[in-house]
Amino acid sequence: MGKKYRVDLRKLWRLARYIFNYKSVLAFMFFCMLVFSITHFTRAYLAKFLVDDVIVRAGSETADAEKRKTDAAAGKAAPAGPDLIEKAEKGFEERLSTYFAGMSIMKVVLVLVIVIMILGVIASVMHFGKVYLGRFLMFRVIVDIRTQVAEHLLGLSLDYHGEVRKGVLLSKMTNDLAATQKAVQFTLEDVFQQPITFVVGLAAAFYVSWFLALCIFFILPVLIYVLVYFGRKIMRHSAKSLETFGDITDLMTQMFLGIRVVKSYRMEKYKVDEFRRANETFMRRVLRMVAQKALSRGITELLYNVGSALIMLLGCYMFIVLKTITPGDLIAFVGIIATMYRPIKSLSHSYGELAASLAGAERLFGLVNLEPTVKDAPDAKPLEGIKHGIVFKDVSFRYVSDGDYVLKDLNLKAGVGKVYAIVGRTGAGKSTLLDLVPRFYDTVEGSIEFDGVDVRKFTLASLLDHIAIVSQDPFLFNASIADNIRCGVERITDEDVRAAAEAAHVMEFAKEKPGVLDYGVGEFGNNLSGGEKQRVTIARALAKDAEILILDEATSSLDSETQKVVQDALERLMKGRTTFVIAHRLSTIERADKIFVIENGSLVEEGTHAELLDKGGVYATLYGEELATGQ
Ligand SMILES: Nc1ncnc2c1ncn2[C@@H]1O[C@H](COP(=O)(O)OP(=O)(O)OP(=O)(O)O)[C@@H](O)[C@H]1O
Ligand SMILES: [Mg+2]
Repeated sequence: MGKKYRVDLRKLWRLARYIFNYKSVLAFMFFCMLVFSITHFTRAYLAKFLVDDVIVRAGSETADAEKRKTDAAAGKAAPAGPDLIEKAEKGFEERLSTYFAGMSIMKVVLVLVIVIMILGVIASVMHFGKVYLGRFLMFRVIVDIRTQVAEHLLGLSLDYHGEVRKGVLLSKMTNDLAATQKAVQFTLEDVFQQPITFVVGLAAAFYVSWFLALCIFFILPVLIYVLVYFGRKIMRHSAKSLETFGDITDLMTQMFLGIRVVKSYRMEKYKVDEFRRANETFMRRVLRMVAQKALSRGITELLYNVGSALIMLLGCYMFIVLKTITPGDLIAFVGIIATMYRPIKSLSHSYGELAASLAGAERLFGLVNLEPTVKDAPDAKPLEGIKHGIVFKDVSFRYVSDGDYVLKDLNLKAGVGKVYAIVGRTGAGKSTLLDLVPRFYDTVEGSIEFDGVDVRKFTLASLLDHIAIVSQDPFLFNASIADNIRCGVERITDEDVRAAAEAAHVMEFAKEKPGVLDYGVGEFGNNLSGGEKQRVTIARALAKDAEILILDEATSSLDSETQKVVQDALERLMKGRTTFVIAHRLSTIERADKIFVIENGSLVEEGTHAELLDKGGVYATLYGEELATGQ
């Protein structure tokens, strides 16, 4: 894994772009942040007046009065040399605050208290604004990202979905998204806020003493270096732990989906051990990340503490020995440094968190970066209908680029409105062949043409609108029977659904169920029997009323009695449509207009049932075998 982990600005920018979609909210939030920071530092700055105009002045006035008293008692007329406070005051006379000149001390105190209270009110209003708007933006952006990722994933082709583990996808949609949410939060609350606080603080520090403020710049580069150094490590370990999280989720989905096998083979202990191992790997990886985070925080904290202590030492030196700053300046500066500690601390803290959570965002964006392999050509046109027929031209296909060919140089022709049967032993490539028609996969070589036009020239949406499929493994959504028949196609009315249910003999069992067609079929349709599920998928194809019909073992789960009845419905359905049927039970395909026999991915025979039997080739053998097994 030579992957370079960097908390680079591009990743952050990609995240920030989602935030920038809500510019006015963002602007409001920035406003609140700015005003909040200003009030914050103003309060620290007010300490200067408290010291210079209240404490020092009060001190010197009392000292003066006392001196006058003792002077009078001793009969002296003139002061006998400056005392400590006077000495301190004298040096900075011009620099002493003139804001409150001529005001009585208590008045100054009153003004300061009122100002501090008003600032407090403003600060809390702004605090509410920035927190609420920040969270609002965070959830808004997360909804956007989650929807976008889901939309994108659904847009990816079957080759991707065939390979990716579902648990890993689930984990990405949950755990990586949670990490991304954190990244958004840190971006909003720290990446945006803390620099504002820092810059305002720095400005305040410069205002008080430019020299001391400059010293802050000496610590900064070291701090940044430490942050960046650890940021990379944190990100790498975070990505690894998220990866393991994917494995864990995948193990969970596997064991719960396969609960029947787990139970019947008593795999509980084996599965739990496997699960524990994955969790322990996760813990190890996460702890590595935690260690890096803690180290990073510890070191930055140390740097800050040492640095600010040194600056304070310098400040005291400037106050006591050089006398270039007032005691108020020193207090204000210390206050400001202390207030700046927060942004620095939380920036360094959140930099680590950001690194960890950006790893999740990066994995998510990795998904968004994937391009569907099957997509509309730039000049794709809608498919209006088929007049002449469908032709497979020298079609070759393999699932993986370095794997064996599953289909080889296959040529076949199908006319409009006829029924074609595809026959062959298991694994011959029948399902694969028919998956190429709706472009679940694209041919590797050769092409499939509708009226002489490559299917890749049509828009995918229009192509799929013309095809209805009953696939080998019936899949039902956890919804009502009616919803499973309609499958989201809006033009299908309730009557259409009912008619399709009637024709596919769904009604027969549905009327026994509570709610009839509104009956919930359960997860994967598990509340129904295998045969019932298959009938629902047939009704689904009937309701779609498409020009091309693909039936892959559509009646395999039905008993021979029901099969006959459904076969009847299917035959009505096939009338006038271009149909491809795959069936192991040859009796269901005897009446096909033409039979294609596939062996090892190649077309070996074609003709009608009678012709092929006469020929005495592969078909005749298959037919003979089937009769022998009594099917
Ligand atoms: N998603 C896939 N990835 C890789 N190989 C696959 C995939 N699906 C099928 N295959 C392989 O392609 C070959 C053809 O499979 P296909 O499903 O087309 O067979 P079939 O003729 O429909 O068989 P059956 O009658 O058992 O349904 C098989 O060797 C199978 O192992
Ligand atoms: Mg198959």
